[in-house]
Amino acid sequence: MTAEVVAQLITDSEGAYLDLTVGMGGHLRALSQALGQSARLYGVDRDAEAVTATLQNLKDVHQFRTAVTVNYAEIDTVVDQFGERAFDGILLDLGLSSRQLDDPERGFSFRHDSPLDMRFDPDAGGRTAADLINALEEKELSGIIRRFGEERNAARLARAIVMERQQRMILTTADLTAIVRDTVRGQYQVKSLARVFQAFRIAVNGELDALETVLPKALNLLNPGGRLGVIAYHSLEDRLVKRFIQDRSKGCICPREFPACVCNHKPELRAITRRVIKPQESEQQANPRARSARLRVAEKLAV
Ligand SMILES: C[S@@+](CC[C@H](N)C(=O)[O-])C[C@H]1O[C@@H](n2cnc3c(N)ncnc32)[C@H](O)[C@@H]1O
Repeated sequence: MTAEVVAQLITDSEGAYLDLTVGMGGHLRALSQALGQSARLYGVDRDAEAVTATLQNLKDVHQFRTAVTVNYAEIDTVVDQFGERAFDGILLDLGLSSRQLDDPERGFSFRHDSPLDMRFDPDAGGRTAADLINALEEKELSGIIRRFGEERNAARLARAIVMERQQRMILTTADLTAIVRDTVRGQYQVKSLARVFQAFRIAVNGELDALETVLPKALNLLNPGGRLGVIAYHSLEDRLVKRFIQDRSKGCICPREFPACVCNHKPELRAITRRVIKPQESEQQANPRARSARLRVAEKLAV
């Protein structure tokens, strides 16, 4: 979705742009190529390895200023370091990167055997997927699998996890994979595996809470006329983004039965993409992960 992001996010070719999920710096590099010489680019990622890679990868990008390691939900605690009053474009490309997914040490994928970690920021401490899987009540496990994985076999899977951990601790991706494979048979097995891994990753990293927290903060950090772009990879994230844009695009919020407006509420945002933007067919073919990507863009209004 790089071309779409570049086309939709830039409103001032000499402005300041912030990527809150900088990953390897791919979007910042693409933005730099469309921006003028005095534009400024900044990045944030919760994963210290991603920030180190970006600092290295973007060395040759003239407009790139810096990248810092922080959870984007806490962006307000580091933004002063950038020395910008506000930004003309802010990007969130949610979820995890291909580098993280393919890293056999991180525990994000059922395709590698590794410790069940799944934290974006292992240096920050916090509970791993193994901690949750071995400690939570059956009901909590099934809630995570159902809500964050949208997996219909959630209750059976939670039961199977609890039965298994009565015998031994569940510590590796192979342990979890075996439980899912024994519980869900047939053509949907791989989909169930992907959903269960997604569910625990979202739970471990508190991804939906972080997204809910960052959206109003990002809006505060935009210049009037600046744009917020969000790429979501599953319906839970996309619904949150859609609702945020809808809520902040409303004018009067008085109850319908009021004869005249007394709230004086003003819209703060204008949706630029009436419908979500999906990746082109060619990108979907080249990169299977891109298939579920959904981009929404909204512009901050002068209130
Ligand atoms: C899909 S990748 C972004 C790829 C990036 N756009 C690029 O061009 O290389 C998502 C990134 O968001 C980061 N991330 C996820 N949750 C985060 C959070 N709460 N705060 C900061 N970064 C986060 C992940 O560590 C990952 O590097």
